[in-house]
Amino acid sequence: MIRHTKIIGTGGYLPETTYSNEHISTLVDTSDEWIFERTGIKSRHIAAAHESAASMAETAARQAIAAAEIDASQIDLIIVATGTPDNVYPSTACLLQHRLGIKTGVAFDIQAACSGAIFALSIADQYIKSGMANTVLIIGSELCSRIVDWTDRGTCILFGDGAGAMLLTASAEAGVLSTHIHSNGEFENLLYCSNPQAAAEAPENAANSGCITMRGNEVFKVAVNTLERIVDETLEANGLEKTAIDWLVPHQANIRIIAATAKKLKMPMEQVVVTLETQGNTSSASVLLAFNEAVRDGRIQRGQVVLMEAFGAGFTWGSALIKY
Ligand code: COA
Repeated sequence: MIRHTKIIGTGGYLPETTYSNEHISTLVDTSDEWIFERTGIKSRHIAAAHESAASMAETAARQAIAAAEIDASQIDLIIVATGTPDNVYPSTACLLQHRLGIKTGVAFDIQAACSGAIFALSIADQYIKSGMANTVLIIGSELCSRIVDWTDRGTCILFGDGAGAMLLTASAEAGVLSTHIHSNGEFENLLYCSNPQAAAEAPENAANSGCITMRGNEVFKVAVNTLERIVDETLEANGLEKTAIDWLVPHQANIRIIAATAKKLKMPMEQVVVTLETQGNTSSASVLLAFNEAVRDGRIQRGQVVLMEAFGAGFTWGSALIKY
């Protein structure tokens, strides 16, 4: 049997507290109008003090396990994408494995910034297709609010917290059609978050240590161009026309970046899953949260073709074409 990778369950978690644009306008010199017009964001969820990447991941994972109607013990690989792990080590994936009561298989974290979900999906697909794993849980879980500089209006307006989950299993039927992941470390200075402990000996970095630092305008341009190229790469690899795609589930960074990708696909915005307005950019969680939302509200139906894409610090970028 040719082993394919099939999505069998999804889940998501968003913290209860939200920060509106109006609230952010009390912290930095900005306005609801400016933020919404330039980004498409109205509000974002902010984790409570007791929450962590692992705790949010657990809630999202349990939803996906319930949706898939499997026992957690069947999961033989857990991949957590996060830029805000609970610890340097053990990995958040190991903490999640323990929270789920799983004592077998393997669990590890990956770091690909906002492209984390696509990287995790690509790795999961290779493990399943090669027979190295049968049932894989992928997670994107992020506490962006803890690494945002709340005095920097160029970044603090953009990000939010949340976790998304997806369960994948080996199947005789096609599911994940292809994944494409890339990186180019040349652009570190355009978007980075230094590790305050490891960077302690570089005082010139101290001002931004541990916070997201971004040259937004330049990131914007690279993101639009790169995502246009990945759309072509994905369609060509599958011998498909643009019209074959039913849904675009993009990383939620900026509505203008999303609209540019939709335009490239000649796709009306009705076929694009957008969660940005109420969630902001949840980094590696965003594609999984958006996919989960559209599956649960009935927009994405079994048999439909879905293109997921993301772009993030590194730079990293990638896409996944799925027959759901
Ligand atoms: N409120 C009001 N004014 C703001 C502002 C804010 N929150 N943030 C920036 N500005 C000001 C700037 O200071 C600048 O003022 P100036 O012209 O007087 O110097 C002006 O707005 C334009 O700044 P610019 O950075 O060119 O704005 P922009 O249209 O590029 O929008 C972003 C800024 C951050 C919204 C946009 O660049 C963006 O979304 N970039 C991509 C970010 C991204 O996707 N990152 C994650 C990748 S995963």
